[in-house]
Amino acid sequence: MNHFDREAFERDGYAVLPGFVAPERCEELRRRALEIIDAFDPTSVPAAVFSTTEKTHAQDEYFLTSGAVIRCFLETGVFVDGALTVPKDRAVNKIGHAMHDLDPVFERFSYTPDLAGVLAGVGMADPRALQSMYICKAAGTGGEVIAHCDHTFLWTEPQSVTGLWFAIDDATVDNGCLWALPGGHRLGAKTRFRRVGDGTTTDVFDPEPYPTDGFVPIEAARGTLVVLHGTLPHRSEPNRSDRSRHAYTLHVIDGAAEYPEDNWLIRGEDLPLRPYRAVAA
Ligand code: FE2
Repeated sequence: MNHFDREAFERDGYAVLPGFVAPERCEELRRRALEIIDAFDPTSVPAAVFSTTEKTHAQDEYFLTSGAVIRCFLETGVFVDGALTVPKDRAVNKIGHAMHDLDPVFERFSYTPDLAGVLAGVGMADPRALQSMYICKAAGTGGEVIAHCDHTFLWTEPQSVTGLWFAIDDATVDNGCLWALPGGHRLGAKTRFRRVGDGTTTDVFDPEPYPTDGFVPIEAARGTLVVLHGTLPHRSEPNRSDRSRHAYTLHVIDGAAEYPEDNWLIRGEDLPLRPYRAVAA
């Protein structure tokens, strides 16, 4: 396992740790994700379509109530006239958002002394995992994720969110690896996505879009951990290859920071966030 390079992280806004996770752990996670997808009946929830570019009210509702459950989201355009246009394992965009606390396989993967060590290296006083996603990025159907920073979607005062991105498949330019803007974390969050009433809104602090030049691909072999600063601009392209690009992500916040109630993700009192220090002990 490679060690976390805090200097690189503070300079670039991300750090890459090849070989952080053993291949058999990656396979275990993939098997469990595929079981969850197998048990999912998409015809029962047409609102499951996930898109970073457009949403209906029903999709909003399906998304906004997913903070404390395990739920599958579909790619855009794969559900037509009540039926899938591609096999189910290529139709699912991702699973979210509390499997790290609700599913034993994901829980074992998410709370390890090695991860507690990385989060301490980042400088977090009291890290707590807020959100988990298993992202399928299926061959030929996996859609793009537009440039954003995670602080926009998971707000704390002060900013504390840290992204942990695990390659479950080899991620390359062809199959839609992460791209990031080195040093872009110093730009801060340009927008904030939050709840208002039954819906959501996006506050705009800086209307200037991220520069299109300067993003670099982060190709990552299976088992690689990429640690992302909460204000680092990152994106990914559609998967145009014939290979899937599975990844697992955890978004961790500092228990010492305030978590405003108008964040989209609500856990509720039944499912409090768990401190990593309990894992490391
Ligand atoms: Fe992100």
